[in-house]
Parts: sequence; structure tokens; C-alpha cells
Amino acid sequence: MAREQVLVIDEKKDAVQLITESVLRPHGYSYIVANNGEDGFRLALEKEPDLIITDLRTPRMSGLEILEALQAERRDIPVILMALHGSEEMAIQAFRLGAKDYIIKPFKVRAMLEAIDRALAEERLMSKGMGDVDQQLERRVKEMNILYGVGKSVTSLLDLEKVLNRIVEAAVFVTGAEEGSLLLVDKHTGELYLRAARNLGEKFARGFRLKVEHSIAGKVVKTGKPILQSTQDEETLKVKTGYLVKSLVNVPLKAKNEVIGVLTVNNKISSNPFTDNDVHLLSALADYATIAIVNAQLYEETKHWSEELERKVEERTQELRAAQEQLLQSEKLASIGQLAAGVAHEINNPMGVILGFAQGILKTLPDDDPLKKPLTTMEKESLRCKRIVQNLLDFARHSEPTPHLTNINELIDASCDLIEHQTSLQNVKLVKNYDPALPPIMADPNQLQQVFINIMLNAYQAMPDGGTLYITTKTVGSELQVTFADTGKGIPPENVQNIFDPFFTTKEVGEGTGLGLSVSYGIIKAHSGDIEVESQVGKGTTFVIKLPLDKSEGDESQD
Ligand SMILES: Nc1ncnc2c1ncn2[C@@H]1O[C@H](COP(=O)(O)OP(=O)(O)O)[C@@H](O)[C@H]1O
Ligand SMILES: [Mg+2]
Repeated sequence: MAREQVLVIDEKKDAVQLITESVLRPHGYSYIVANNGEDGFRLALEKEPDLIITDLRTPRMSGLEILEALQAERRDIPVILMALHGSEEMAIQAFRLGAKDYIIKPFKVRAMLEAIDRALAEERLMSKGMGDVDQQLERRVKEMNILYGVGKSVTSLLDLEKVLNRIVEAAVFVTGAEEGSLLLVDKHTGELYLRAARNLGEKFARGFRLKVEHSIAGKVVKTGKPILQSTQDEETLKVKTGYLVKSLVNVPLKAKNEVIGVLTVNNKISSNPFTDNDVHLLSALADYATIAIVNAQLYEETKHWSEELERKVEERTQELRAAQEQLLQSEKLASIGQLAAGVAHEINNPMGVILGFAQGILKTLPDDDPLKKPLTTMEKESLRCKRIVQNLLDFARHSEPTPHLTNINELIDASCDLIEHQTSLQNVKLVKNYDPALPPIMADPNQLQQVFINIMLNAYQAMPDGGTLYITTKTVGSELQVTFADTGKGIPPENVQNIFDPFFTTKEVGEGTGLGLSVSYGIIKAHSGDIEVESQVGKGTTFVIKLPLDKSEGDESQD
């Protein structure tokens, strides 16, 4: 028997060639070709092919328009639509217009052959002489086509909302029901809530909830078995209080062994009963719904994990940034240090000359000489310059610390003594809280003393109207900690990150150089330690100096 004739409509020559040369010709089909929709439709009417394969987007008349036009002409020629990936939704519409199948381009030869076989199955049965009697069969093929289309959309559409609505739509369509709905079990309350609906009254569509105990759908959830019920003309069935129908089918959505929802169709007005076949069809659709829901859950989970991952990466990035800032701080110190060392040497010599002449002249002047006062000021200010320059040089000197076994408690006491003449006039209470068992550590005592003095002077300067300075020493794990906590004016948050910068000062010109803390920072770092600061404006500031305890030294001191 000569095989069927196929009309291929596609604008693209290579697409046409693939179908005719790789699919149709080798399998004995004859074919005719059109490269636009209008010509295709005309050929369809003229030649009455057994099958039409058309692209969705054909020039002059689209695939959907061809379907519509065929319907209007009551030509029952099976049509297969070809669509590009992403036009799945349009393809679903095509099913409603009576398309037999759709194929996503690019396709495999095998897939196209199968689609052709499916599309021609009905016609072939008819021509074998069984068709005229078997309307049922024709209906089955239609149903299978719809199920097949929905199945495809379950795997190709990511939007759960759309998939579920489409499933309910298909359920209503294949069973010829008046209305349909998809209810899901709320894990927390155990109630059923409406997830998707078709033709359901507005009143029920919103906030529709069912108690599992008192409803037909609830029974399906409990038993996991479908329910098919219908009534005589005058009777009604109670879906829920106030919701009566004439006939219904409810099937469970089963994920593994758990019922996660119910797919329902009802007839409210007509008393057309549903059949076992409707139960089968709905069960297939319910399976699709389950797959779509489980897929969506998996997708959400994947999304959750990828967000978690993103968070972790962000965290690490923050840590890296902090580490880099520290690095920058040390680098800044190093470069400014070099600069300062150069300048300091240049200034120190002329300053020595000025100081020398000032002191020399002063010695020769009688006490009441009018030049005495300005020269004394010159001497004082030159000395101050030298001190600052000395500070700079200390700061710049990259000498490794010369370590001795040092008792920190004693060193702090010595530092307090050194600044006493500067601080005795201030109404500041000193509270010392030393750990008497503090082990000595290897450190450069001169340098550490410089640190303690810097920090204590800062504290006194922050408490011009009096206050308390708490000094605490203790060991914490493998560290020795010295804490200076004052009750002074505190450091505003925007300054905290700057206080260790060289030349950062909030003090009047002449009162602060802005070098104390940056020098201290350099010294503590050279001792493999750390300085931390915590401050609250109006409450006070706490500096914590952390120095590593030398384990072996600790052991030796036992001897
Ligand atoms: N205990 C403290 N209380 C309030 N502010 C402080 C304290 N210690 C340091 N600061 C702030 O840090 C700045 C820098 O300190 P420092 O490097 O010692 O330079 P200087 O004391 O010469 O200003 C100070 O000007 C001050 O603003
Ligand atoms: Mg200072």
C-alpha cells in the first residue's frame, strides 16, 4: 500500500530538507512542500494530504492560524506543529485547536517518525475498516494526545503555577466536567487548600479550605484511593458544607507513599455520571501534578543551597577584605616610616644648631634682659622639635626588638612613675589589677614602655575633668593581656579606624603628634602581638594589648 502523503510547511529550506530527505522519503511517505502559511493552507485544501507538518511561525499565516482555518473549513487533517524551544506555551494552545502533536526544534529523526506514527494512528485504524464503529477509540486517541501534551509541559515549564493550572484545565477538558480543582495538603494544619481551579465559583476559589475529616477529598487523602460518585437527578453530593454537586471524581496525588493532594472534577448542574475511564485519565494527570510539585520542591532546595553557598563566599570575602586592610595598615606604616626617617635626619642637625646657639646666648644674658624670654621659648620649642624628631626616628627605625626576659607588671609600674610629673595634677584615679603570677616574657622593655606611656598619656588626656584608669594584667590561653580602660570621652566610631594611622590626631596643634598609637602598633606587631580598641563616646575607651607567652620561657622560670 502506498504510504500517506504529507504536507510540509516551513520557511527554512534546510528544515524542509531534513524532514523530506531524512524522515519522509526513506520511510516511503510522499510529500508536498510549501514555504509559507498561505500556500500551505491552499495546498491542504487542494490536495487533502493525510498529514500536515508545519512550523509554528510560518510567514503570512502562522501554524496556529492554519489550525484555525482548517477547523473553520471542517477539514479533519491531523497537524504536527514544530516550535522552537521556549514556545511550549503556544504549543499547548495548539493542542486546544486540535493539533495532534508538537515537536521542539531541533528534533531527532526518530522523534519525528514517532510523532508521525501517532498522528496517523487514527486514520490508519479507520482505513482498516474499524473506524466508523469505533468512536470510543477515536476519543481515546484524543485523550491520550492531551495527556501526552500535558506531560510534555510538566517537564518543559518551570513555573509550577502554570503547570498546575494546565493540569486542572486538562482534567476538566478530558472528562467533560463542569469544574475542576487541585487541592494540596497543608503539612502544618493537615487541611486541604485550593492550589489551582477551573470554573470554580469565585466564592470558593479564594481561601478555599477543607478539613480532612469532613470532606470527600479528605477521605481520598486518608485512604489514598480515588472516589467516583454520582447521584440520581434530584439528589446532591456534599463536597463541603454549602457546596453540592451531582457527580464527582476525586483522585489522590501520591508522592512515594504519602498523599500530598487531590485532583477533583465535579458536575454541579448536569447529572452526567463520570466513568472508570475518567478515573484513569485523572490519575495520570494527578501523577503529572505530583511530578511537577516534587520537581519544584527540588528546585527550591537547590536554590536554597546555592544561596547558602553564596552567603559563605560573601563571608570569606569579608574576611579576606579585613585581612587585606590590616596588610595595608602595615604597609602604610612602613612607607611613611621610611619617609619620616629621611626627613628626621635632615631636621635634627639644623635643629641642634639652633638649640646650641639659643642655649649659648642664654648663658651670657643677665636675668632681666628682654631677650631672655624669647630665647627661653626658642630653647623650649627646639627641644620639643627634637623630641618629635626622636619619636619619628624611633618610629621609623625598623630595628628588631632586643628581647630580655621582662616582667610586665614591673614595667607598667615604672611607666607610671615616668609620667607622674605630667599627670599628678589631674584628678584621675589609678586602679591596678595585676595578676601576681604573671609570667615574665621575652620582650624589648624600652619599646614596650614607650607603648604603655603612649596609651596612658592618651587616657589622661581623654579625662581632663578626672576619671578612673583601670590597668589589668592577666594570661588568657597562650597570651598575656594588658588592658588599659579609661572613663574618658571616648572615640567616635568614624575615627576608630584611623587612630593607628601616623599623624592622625584630634588634639590641638602642639598637644598631639598623632604618632603615639602608630608607633605603639609597630612595636606590638614586632613583638608578634596585637592591639585592640573598644570605645564608646562619653563612656570611655579600652585598649587591650596581647602578647604571646613564650612556652619554653614559662617552663624555665620554674627552675
Ligand atoms: N584613650 C583615648 N581616649 C580617647 N581618644 C583617644 C584615646 N587614645 C587615643 N585616642 C585618639 O587617638 C588619636 C591618636 O592618638 P595618638 O596616636 O596617641 O596621637 P596623639 O595622642 O598625639 O593625638 C588621638 O588624637 C585621640 O583622638
Ligand atoms: Mg598620644
